[in-house]
Amino acid sequence: MAQVMGNVIVGQSGGPTAVINSSLAGVYKTARDRGARKVFGMLHGIQGLLEERVADLSKHIRSDLDIDLLKRTPSSFLGSCRYKLPEIKDNQEIYDKIFAILDKLEIEYFFYIGGNDSMDTIKKLSDYAILNGSRIRFMGVPKTIDNDLAVTDHTPGFGSAAKYIASITKEVIRDGLVYDQQNVTLLEIMGRNAGWLTGAAALAKGEDCEGPDMMFLPELIFDVEKFMNQVAEIHKVKKSVVIAISEGVKVADGRYVCELTDNIDFVDAFGHRQLTGTARYLAEKISKEVPGCKTRAIEFNSLQRCASHIVGRVDITEAYQVGGAAVKAAFEGETGKMIILKRVSDDPYLCVTDIYDVHKIANVEKKVPREWINEEGNYVTQAFINYVRPLIQAELTPMMVDGLPRHLRLDDISYGG
Ligand code: F6P
Repeated sequence: MAQVMGNVIVGQSGGPTAVINSSLAGVYKTARDRGARKVFGMLHGIQGLLEERVADLSKHIRSDLDIDLLKRTPSSFLGSCRYKLPEIKDNQEIYDKIFAILDKLEIEYFFYIGGNDSMDTIKKLSDYAILNGSRIRFMGVPKTIDNDLAVTDHTPGFGSAAKYIASITKEVIRDGLVYDQQNVTLLEIMGRNAGWLTGAAALAKGEDCEGPDMMFLPELIFDVEKFMNQVAEIHKVKKSVVIAISEGVKVADGRYVCELTDNIDFVDAFGHRQLTGTARYLAEKISKEVPGCKTRAIEFNSLQRCASHIVGRVDITEAYQVGGAAVKAAFEGETGKMIILKRVSDDPYLCVTDIYDVHKIANVEKKVPREWINEEGNYVTQAFINYVRPLIQAELTPMMVDGLPRHLRLDDISYGG
């Protein structure tokens, strides 16, 4: 295949997923196969690039075996960041600096694997390039466990997180049945303002499992007293109650439930507050107010986004495909776009890739539609389940070494290489 002009650079940004490195592998392999001279990786995204911290990826991904290991490695291989670029009109200098660094590396193609905030970066950089006559092409590669990117049917990373959540929800439901004693287990699930992942707990329900008793998504206002009454009602008919709750549920006055208690006020560059403690707050409330009821708060936390040992094959394959599709599109001249997934059919499941204007995607949050949540506001509907079910299908076995999954590691991640 003909040599493309210039070099390629790829970065990862935002919270990681279990398959984000499959997209990195897709970008890397496709760029090399299509004749890219060098493929650089930004260490810790755009923030690292500003400090000229980049790695020549051919020194770190040396064989097909490395590519297979990379796909199966959780978290962001290159390191990530939460870094918000200013508006171009407010700080031209930072853009001049980024483009000077890119020119020094002879970059012609720039790929950023990320979610909403990362697409904001692609939008601004591609705008700047057009305004200043740069020939560098900028493409977004979708990723987020939250599944909250607009336009695309779903985002790579969501399916594997959903598979993990549904699997451990089944296991926890069984565990809750062990003693003949009244108990409530609260499962706190990520997703910030979108309830896609919390709703995925419903997939636990099947022939061998009754599924969670209730679930609360951030799309609806959470009423603490109503919740307490609902728990009491369920306890009239069964002893063990399991509830999935989003980290991002808010009460009527706009406060997060986790803000009703003490803790954490770390806020990142995008103004996102770290959300944690919703399940603990509610578990403590039940413990105090319902005598004799045992409670547990289980925060799935980072486990739900790094469980590469139970990755979904559909998910990891699509993650690879969107990486490859981004390279193909950029090499054919596209810029300021993101790869999207378009669902052709549910059964048999089929999705294809397409490209879409990143300006219409950046900073838009896709929430769970109201009609996919039941009227009572405490469970998802069958339509929701039909949408998610195909995305958790099939498995990819980890490469086991000495009894544990093997990963690929970038040794000099903290210092540049
Ligand atoms: O990237 C999405 C996400 O996983 C959210 O679901 C979660 O609220 C957030 O990241 C946590 O981010 P961090 O790891 O930066 O605290």
